[in-house]
Amino acid sequence: MRKNLVSTPGWHAAWLPDDAFAPLGRRVVAVSAPPDAGPVAATVVAEVRAAVDRFGGRLLTASVDDGPAPALVLALAPDAGLPAEGFAVARTGGTTRVTAADEAGLLYGLFHVVRLGEGAFDDALVPGSHAPAHAVRMLDHWDNVDAHDVMGQVERGYAGGSIFYEDGALRPDLTRVGAYARLLAASGVNRATVNNVNVHRTEARLLTDRLGDVVRLADQFRPWGIRVHLAVSFGAPLTLGGLGTCDPLEPAVADWWADAAARVYAAIPDFGGFLVKADSEGQPGPFAYGRDHADGANVLARALAPYGGTVHWRAFVYNHHQDWRDRRTDRARAAYDHFTPLDGKFDENVVVQVKFGPLDFQVREPVSPVLTAMPRTRLALELQVTQEYTGQQKHVYYLPEQWSEVLGWEPWADGRTVSDVARDVVAVSNVGDDRFWTGHPLAQANLYGFGRLAWDPTLTPSDLLDEWTRLTFPGADPRVQDVLRDVVLGSRATYEQYTAPLGVCFMVGPGHYGPGVDFYEYSPWGTYHFADRDGIGVDRTVASGTGYAGQYPEPWASTYESLDTCPDELLLFFHHVPYTHVLRSGKTVVQHVYDTHTDGAARTEEMARRWEDLDGLVEPDLFDRVRTLLAEQVRSAGEWRDQVRTYFWRHSGVPDERGGPLY
Ligand code: GCU
Repeated sequence: MRKNLVSTPGWHAAWLPDDAFAPLGRRVVAVSAPPDAGPVAATVVAEVRAAVDRFGGRLLTASVDDGPAPALVLALAPDAGLPAEGFAVARTGGTTRVTAADEAGLLYGLFHVVRLGEGAFDDALVPGSHAPAHAVRMLDHWDNVDAHDVMGQVERGYAGGSIFYEDGALRPDLTRVGAYARLLAASGVNRATVNNVNVHRTEARLLTDRLGDVVRLADQFRPWGIRVHLAVSFGAPLTLGGLGTCDPLEPAVADWWADAAARVYAAIPDFGGFLVKADSEGQPGPFAYGRDHADGANVLARALAPYGGTVHWRAFVYNHHQDWRDRRTDRARAAYDHFTPLDGKFDENVVVQVKFGPLDFQVREPVSPVLTAMPRTRLALELQVTQEYTGQQKHVYYLPEQWSEVLGWEPWADGRTVSDVARDVVAVSNVGDDRFWTGHPLAQANLYGFGRLAWDPTLTPSDLLDEWTRLTFPGADPRVQDVLRDVVLGSRATYEQYTAPLGVCFMVGPGHYGPGVDFYEYSPWGTYHFADRDGIGVDRTVASGTGYAGQYPEPWASTYESLDTCPDELLLFFHHVPYTHVLRSGKTVVQHVYDTHTDGAARTEEMARRWEDLDGLVEPDLFDRVRTLLAEQVRSAGEWRDQVRTYFWRHSGVPDERGGPLY
């Protein structure tokens, strides 16, 4: 068995075990950057120094030119014409040269070399330039300072407590936050929001008398090129400022925000900006004053503008007190209806942050039409690394398989993709104080994959998995890669098979884990499937339904509108059909549900069996953790299978052609 992986007591090394630095650490490495280049350049020097000290190589700094020829040169070249955060790599005469636009580019260049391993020193190295596709690559933490009665320390967190806060305060020792920032930088992330979008009482004060906590967090992130953002309450002028109003058009409110921003920037000059959830699920917002979301966002934006800060303003606005008897209101329509009329009215430093689908991070939703309809607004695509509806880090669910689909979707079928229209890419973090960071060790691949895809959305999920595997298990037996491919690739499709079928969404139980086919059917949350004895699905057509399909540009509006062209996997999102409706696959809806649930649950059993092949090939506690979680996934998938199959049978009366058990 190999001894690698754990380099730091207390937590797992994830994709930066010491051994990943061996190829570089064995060689002579020169770092060429002026001594005052900044904290990120200093990080690069420190990383190289640590690696060469450990593996017997040598570090040369710019001032030394009489030593041995370096195998690697990392050089700052601000005048080389490279894009921000970018770097170029080339190899000549036995030296690999990384030239970087700025300090951040130097750090990304270093991690690029680490990813390449020995390949970085091979004469076959392909020269090229690298730069991020998205300028802002952000993780949002839904961490509370005070553990919330219902949501706990980390809202929708499945990996233990917060790495930032504990017992109502910032943790005194933030070493682990620094280690986290290092992991994020190695994946390409450059922003972090450090508190929950639902800003409760204590957390609101991070903007005011608890600002010192944010300063300390920013100090941990800064050396890794990561700027810190803060989720703020729109009601702060009222609740913290004592103004008696938070009307965005009230001059005293604008002044309050301007003062708050000035204080933040005096303490944190590289502060990123504010994140706001307004008029959503009980959070305060401009509607209370008859103002719109452009009025709301702009008052904050103007406070931040003198310092170059941005407001990420969430489009997740809908009526969460819906009467289920009301068949006309459609939650899926809400973000588009609220926001697209405001296109062009937002200040330049407002970013409208849009969840990838119109509902809420479901296993299968169409891409949000808001992303297609605001050409004059800077947009952020919001993803969820934390697996709220996708198995809560108990199930293997490889999110890059979903994200590549979303990022590569072409709203106009003309080559332009979601990645082209969303300038920023944001995701809700899945990290906690669990030893493996993410609860499920394999969920580390999701966190890693997020940063890498935000940097380069054209990377394939399978290449990303291999990359993550090589880094996380350096020098491992080749069987490790084979097993990981078998277990992880296709896991998104498997989860979809045994849970909510054909884009119907929300068949989850309490806490959003496990089956609850009717759990949301008569709820105020606007998440219905309308199953009756004849059929199932939501009619969102323009012709006879809620009209949601008409929010898309062509060709999608027509494609989704028509039963003849709507893709099978989204059928029940757009149409209410009889159970015997024949899919494009040739199967009826009900038989499809029977088969996919049987097959999906069976597949989890194969995944669990396959994992056993790694016994002795990876560190024992990682092996055991995954084994235990796979057993839970098998159990849970079986429960999903039996409940969903039985539900469809009881409602339709149609037997399963394959004769599987129904109850
Ligand atoms: C979901 C999630 C909430 C979260 C919300 C949001 O509804 O269940 O916990 O607050 O999304 O994105 O704001």
